[in-house]
Amino acid sequence: MSTQANEKLLSPERLAGARRDLEKATTLPSEAFTSPAVYEAEVERILEREWLCAGRADQIPEAGDYFSLDLLGEKLVVVRGRDGEIRVLSRVCRHRAAELVRDSGNARSFQCPYHAWTYALDGRLVGAPMMEDAEGFERESCRLPEMRSEIWEGWIFVNFDADAAPLGPRLAPLSELLAGYAMSEMVAIETATFDSPFNWKVLVDNFMEAYHHLATHRDTLEPIFPARLSHTPDNEGPYSVLIMPDRGEAAGPSSGLPRVGQLTPEEAHRLIAAVVYPFHLFAPTPESLTWYQLLPHGHDRFTLRIYSCFAREAHDDPAHADAIEGLQAFTKIVHQQDIEACEAVWSGLHSRAFETGPLCPLEKPIWQFNQWWIERMAGAV
Ligand code: FES
Ligand SMILES: [Fe+2]
Repeated sequence: MSTQANEKLLSPERLAGARRDLEKATTLPSEAFTSPAVYEAEVERILEREWLCAGRADQIPEAGDYFSLDLLGEKLVVVRGRDGEIRVLSRVCRHRAAELVRDSGNARSFQCPYHAWTYALDGRLVGAPMMEDAEGFERESCRLPEMRSEIWEGWIFVNFDADAAPLGPRLAPLSELLAGYAMSEMVAIETATFDSPFNWKVLVDNFMEAYHHLATHRDTLEPIFPARLSHTPDNEGPYSVLIMPDRGEAAGPSSGLPRVGQLTPEEAHRLIAAVVYPFHLFAPTPESLTWYQLLPHGHDRFTLRIYSCFAREAHDDPAHADAIEGLQAFTKIVHQQDIEACEAVWSGLHSRAFETGPLCPLEKPIWQFNQWWIERMAGAV
């Protein structure tokens, strides 16, 4: 039943079921979710090596705009420089480690509140009072460390691995698939924040299948986007896509918001959920884009920030304020339903009676994700 003490957690035997073809595959074994050791290995093998989403470029439109972000315990500031470039810098002072800022706003430079060392927006130390007599002190060597960053479809991605391959080329097929939605031109509004006391993969799995519309969302999503119509194309990169057609002309809940981008008639009648591995979750619709930002704190907890994004003209027009609010309220109701499902799963995963379960072929995105995860994690602990 349970793992023997001498059996490795992520041995080939333990992962064999998840590795089978989709039609015969199982979930990952429960310890992939519940084990602190697995999470530690994930940090090393996945989270510190892959591209993680830090925010949206539209959150810092002007030179000097910045926001603070805590990611995997690192204290970061994401800032737009005078040159218009977005940079992700450490926000820890190079003198005695005080945090330079903790908020968001607009700054000409970052001045440390402790002894007034001052950094330019690109991280250069430009002022350090009374350091003339400090022997060997060189301003040039006290720059704020900069992380690798890249913009994809309006999102700012960061990578702690200086040698990581660029993200954009790997996501080119996904960009092409979603080109009609013009995601890079959208504007994000923060909708809700949830302290989520379960493993991050429980939410990724939940986000990436419509099978649960049947029960969890029987009164919200299932009447519009029925589980049985959902399908998933084969993926050509580190991502999965779930396509959820609506029931037809009469069923679509038109919010009255203008359509985004350039959509085909087919695209105008479906909801899409996508994940860029490991956990960048987003869902474009004909009128909006929902984005879930996950900030893991351990194997059993993460902060979830939900954003709703809209085309600039919808966002800026007061006539659409009610429709936007209505959409945000709907998103929150749907996520409340998902929280109940995720908490029930999290509790069940700790039972000795459960090891793995058979996947439904409708859960193809979970299977795709699992293959990617196993490739990086097999034998790790
Ligand atoms: S800790 Fe920042 S100036 Fe001293
Ligand atoms: Fe859901």
